[in-house]
Amino acid sequence: MRFKKTIQQLLEEQTSTNEKGLKRSLGPFNLVALGIGAIVGAGIFSLTGIVASENAGPAVILSFVLAGIACAFCALCYAEYASMIPVAGSAYTYTYATLGEFMAWIIGWDLVLEYALASATVAVSWSSYAVKLLTQFHINIPVELTASPFDPIKLADGTTTKAGIINLPAVFIVALLSLVLVKGTKESATINNLLVILKISVIILFIALGWSFINPEHYTPFIPENTGEFGHFGWSGIIRGAAVVFFGFIGFDAVSTAAQEAKNPQKDMPIGIIGSLLVATVLYVAFSYVMTGLVPYTAFKNDASPAATAFAVTGYHFLNSALIIAILAGYTSVILVMLMGQSRVFYSMSKDGLLPAFFSHVHPRFKTPWKSNLFFLVFVSLLAGLVPISDLGHMVSIGTLFAFSLVALGVIILRKTNPEIPRSFKVPFVPLIPILGIGVCLFLMTGLPIESWERLFIWMAIGIVFYFLYSKKHSKLRNKKY
Ligand code: ALA
Repeated sequence: MRFKKTIQQLLEEQTSTNEKGLKRSLGPFNLVALGIGAIVGAGIFSLTGIVASENAGPAVILSFVLAGIACAFCALCYAEYASMIPVAGSAYTYTYATLGEFMAWIIGWDLVLEYALASATVAVSWSSYAVKLLTQFHINIPVELTASPFDPIKLADGTTTKAGIINLPAVFIVALLSLVLVKGTKESATINNLLVILKISVIILFIALGWSFINPEHYTPFIPENTGEFGHFGWSGIIRGAAVVFFGFIGFDAVSTAAQEAKNPQKDMPIGIIGSLLVATVLYVAFSYVMTGLVPYTAFKNDASPAATAFAVTGYHFLNSALIIAILAGYTSVILVMLMGQSRVFYSMSKDGLLPAFFSHVHPRFKTPWKSNLFFLVFVSLLAGLVPISDLGHMVSIGTLFAFSLVALGVIILRKTNPEIPRSFKVPFVPLIPILGIGVCLFLMTGLPIESWERLFIWMAIGIVFYFLYSKKHSKLRNKKY
C-alpha cells in the first residue's frame, strides 16, 4: 500500500499552524519580491563569468535563455501545485500528498542538494566579493584562507599559485546567518523588499552604465569553437552552460514555502512564482549581454568576482565599492532564504517522523528549529570552506533539476488521480507542458559532468538506505500517529 497524506490532512495541518501565529500578510507584489530575493544572486554575479570562460563564451546569453525556458515549464507546474495545495512547504510536502511517502522522502533528501548546497555555493561567491571589497580598503586576508584546498589561487598579476587551505570568509557568513536564524530574526517582507530593490537597481545600473562601453568585437566569435571535449565551447558548451546557469534561476520554488503567509494563495502564488521567474530572466539576459561585451570572455578565467572585473572597464571607479556592497547584500538574502528553506524542509520531514526529532526541536524562547540550524551551520560551513565552487554549483543544479522533474511528474499524476480538487491555476496543455519540463530538465542534467551524476547517485543511495533503516520504521503516517 502507498502511504500518502490526503490534501485534507495538509489543509488541517496548515490551519493549526496558522492558528499558532503565522499571519496572512503577503500580497502579489511581496511574493514576486520574495521570489526575486531568493533567485538573484551568485548565478548572475559569479557563474556568468565561469560559464563564459569555461563553456560558452559570449553565448552564455543563450545558456540563460535555454535555462529560463526549462524553468518556465517547471514554474507552471509549481504554480498549479501551489494554487491547489496552499500550505507551507515545498516539493516535499506536495509529493507526500501525490506520489506518497517514499517519493516524498526522495525529494526531501534531494532538496538538501538544492538548499544546503546552494547556500554553500553562494557563500563561496560572497567570500570572493567580500575579499575584493576588503582589498579596496587595504585589508588583506592571506590568500590561503580564502580558497578551498582544491582551488588554485589567482594572484593580482593574473597568474595562479598553489591551492588554498580553507575559505574562511565563506564559513564566516554561513555561521553568522545560521546564528541569526537560531535567534529567530524573521526576514520581514519589508526588509526583503528593500534588498530586492537594491539588487535590481544595481543590475539596471550595471546594464545602463555598461552599455556604452560594450566593445562589439568581444562578441566574435559568438559561439567559440568546441575544443574537442564535450561541454567546452560550441553547442555542447551552451548546453552545459545552461545546466550550470540554471543555478541562477533556483529560488522561484522558494515562493511556495510562503503559501501559508499569502493573503490569497490560490490566486497570488502563481503570480509570485511565474512573475519572479520572468523578471529574473529578462534581467539575466541583459546583464550577461553587457558583461560579455565589456571584456573578452577569457578575462573571466578563474575569476570568482567577474561582475566587478567587467565593471572596472567602465571607469566608474567610485561606484565599484557600491556595486560590491549591493552584490554582497543580495547574496546575503539568498543564503538566508536557502538556509531557512533547508531547515523548514527538514523540520517538516522530522515532524512526519522520517528524520530524528532533533531536527524539529523548537527552541523554547526563540521558537526556531535551532538544533537543525546548528547542524546545518556545521554541514554547510564545511562544504563552503573546503569544496570548490564549480563542484558545489554542479551538484545544486543536478539536484534541483531532479526535484523539478518530480514536481512536473506529480502534476500529470494528480490530474488523473484527483481531478476533482479545485485548481485556481492550471498548467495549459497537460501532459505536454509537464512532459516538456521533465524532458528539458533531464536534457540539462545530461549536460552536467559525469562526476555530478555519480555524486547524485551516491547521495540518493545513502538516502534510500536511511529511509529503509530509519524513516520507514518511524513514519508517523505509517504508525497511525496522524
Ligand atoms: N538563484 C540563486 C543564486 O543565483 C541560488 O544565487
